[in-house]
Amino acid sequence: MLLQDCVDLDALEQTARRVMRPESWVFCDTGADDEITVKENVTAWRRLRLRPRMLRDIVEVDTSVSLLGARLDTPIMVAPTGRHHLFHANGERETARGAAAAGALFVMSTSGSTTVEDVAKESAGVTQWFQLYMQPDRDATAVLLDRCVKAGFRALVLTVDQPLPGWSPRAYRTPVAVSEKIRSVNMVGQPVARTAYDAERKGVAMFPLNFRDLEWLVQRAGMPVVVKGVLRGDDALRCIECGVRGVMVSNHGGRHLDTTVTTAEAIAEIAAAVGDKAEVYVDGGIRRGTDIVKALALGARAVLLGRPPLWGLSVAGADGVRAVLHHMHDEMVRAMRLCGAASLAALTPDLVRA
Ligand SMILES: Cc1cc2nc3c(=O)[nH]c(=O)nc-3n(C[C@H](O)[C@H](O)[C@H](O)COP(=O)(O)O)c2cc1C
Repeated sequence: MLLQDCVDLDALEQTARRVMRPESWVFCDTGADDEITVKENVTAWRRLRLRPRMLRDIVEVDTSVSLLGARLDTPIMVAPTGRHHLFHANGERETARGAAAAGALFVMSTSGSTTVEDVAKESAGVTQWFQLYMQPDRDATAVLLDRCVKAGFRALVLTVDQPLPGWSPRAYRTPVAVSEKIRSVNMVGQPVARTAYDAERKGVAMFPLNFRDLEWLVQRAGMPVVVKGVLRGDDALRCIECGVRGVMVSNHGGRHLDTTVTTAEAIAEIAAAVGDKAEVYVDGGIRRGTDIVKALALGARAVLLGRPPLWGLSVAGADGVRAVLHHMHDEMVRAMRLCGAASLAALTPDLVRA
C-alpha cells in the first residue's frame, strides 16, 4: 500500500477507490440526487481568493486551539461517518487511533459499527466527541448518552439535517451487503440497511426533531451539546437559545439534500450571527490547507474532514488516517505562513475575498 499517496489527496482518493469493494466506495463517495452539492462543496472553497499579508517574517506558527474548553494541537477534526467496518477490518478503532496519533479530535458516529467503549479506549488522551442521531425513544437515547459520558466522550454532536434519508440513485444501484459487521451496534433495535438511503429504513431510522427535543437533550446530555447541519444564521441563533455550545455548519457532505447552499457560502453568515455566543465549525469539501485557512478566516474555529480520512482508513488503517491528517495540517501551516498569519487568531475575514 502506498502511504506516500497521502501527501496527494487526489491520488489517495484513486487508490482508495481501487482498494475498496465497489459498494463500500459508493457508500463513501455518493451524494444525494444529482450530487451537485458534493461537487460544489469542493469548488466553492477553491473559488474564494486569498489576500495574503506580506513582510510578516513568520517562522513559527501556533495552531493550537481550544474546542469547548479542551486544548488541541490542530483545528482539524475527523467528521462523524458511519460503518467503518466497510473500510477496515478493525472499523472505528483504527480511525480513532489514527486521529489520536495526529492529535486530532475524532467525532464518532451513531452509525458506527464499533461500541463507544471500544472507540474511547483508542483516544490516547485526545478529546473525542460523539455524534448522535436522536431516536424517537428518549429512554434509548438516554441510555446511550450515559454510556458516552461514562466512556469519556466530551461533547455531543446532534445531527439535525437528516430527519429522513435523502435519495441516491447510485447507492440504490450498488447497495452494501447486509452483515452483522456493519450494524450500528450502539443503537438498540436498529436493523442493518443496505444503503444510507434505504426505503426500508423509513419509519425506523427517521429522526424528526424540533427545538423542544433539542432543549431536552441539552438538559439530559451530561456534556456540552453541538448541533450539526445548520446552514442559516437564524437557525443557529435558535439553537443557541436552546443552550447549545457549538454550531457545525454542514450540508452532510451533500448526502441527503442536494442543491443546498455550499458550506463555504454559508459560513460567513452564520459566524456573523453567532458572534461569540457559541463556537462555530464547518465541514464539506475541505481538501486543501488553503481551504482550511479560508474557513477559519471566515469565522470557523475548526474544520472537519469527512471522506478523506475514510480514504486513508481503507488504504492504510490508522496510519492512513494519521497521514491524511498530518498532510492537511502541514498544508494549513504552509498556507498560514504564506498568508502572513502566525496563529489561528490571525486568520481574519480580510484574508479572503469572495
Ligand atoms: C460515508 C459517510 C458517512 C457519513 N455518516 C454520517 C453520520 O453517521 N453522521 C453524520 O452526522 N454525518 C455523517 N456524514 C457526513 C459527515 O459527517 C460530514 O458532514 C461530511 O462528510 C463532510 O463533507 P466531506 O466528506 O466533503 O469532507 C457522513 C459522510 C460520509 C461521507
